Amino acid sequence: MEMKIAPSLLAADFLHLEDELRRAEASGAVMLHCDVMDGVYVPNISFGFDIIKQIHAVTDLPLDVHMMTVRACDYIDTLKKAGASSITLHSDTLEPNEMIETLKYIKSLGMNAAVSLKPKYPASDVFPFVPYIDMVLVMTVEPGFGGQKFMADMMPKVREIRDYLDANKPECEIQVDGGVAPATIAECTRAGANVFVVGTAAFKADDMTEAVTKLIQTAEEAAAE
Ligand code: DX5
Ligand code: ZN
Repeated sequence: MEMKIAPSLLAADFLHLEDELRRAEASGAVMLHCDVMDGVYVPNISFGFDIIKQIHAVTDLPLDVHMMTVRACDYIDTLKKAGASSITLHSDTLEPNEMIETLKYIKSLGMNAAVSLKPKYPASDVFPFVPYIDMVLVMTVEPGFGGQKFMADMMPKVREIRDYLDANKPECEIQVDGGVAPATIAECTRAGANVFVVGTAAFKADDMTEAVTKLIQTAEEAAAE
């Protein structure tokens, strides 16, 4: 599978957001990860739909929206209008039937759909949603903040999901989010992830192109082992 880097805007310099978008575009990243937090589902508040809309107006990079909110199902039309390419919902934020209806609705609007697991949830929690999604997001930190320590103990869960997907939906991708850096990306790849959210290790790098190039190279080498 193609190794994809998704820089997380949470780590960007918001006073110079357009410059940060240009750095991301030039870096070899193939999408932008947008973390939406409501202060209820996670103990932090980030940015919302109008910011996403303004970002979409000035970049061609697909916007990968990670909804860390309650009732994300109420904002699907708004996110489509704001320019989202893909929407990730957390597994425990909707009842299973409502989750499936929302995932179907996301797909019907031409966007990609994904389901995310907080660290405490097992791989099997995502299996009922696999027929309706393009990607599984395995959190490798507790959601809410950038710059946290990578949880290597999530790797068996990534492997379990990759094995399940290989048997049931091989084209479905696995994204990891939290603490992904040159020192941690290889183990993610070996466990079966191929989409990497990178906040600190991308935007806080002096040379983002160099950082992203190195991350892709390290992931590809680990995948080829
Ligand atoms: C955390 C967010 C992440 C965060 C990752 O809740 O979902 O996307 O920005 O940041 P780093 O890469 O710094 O851990
Ligand atoms: Zn995220």
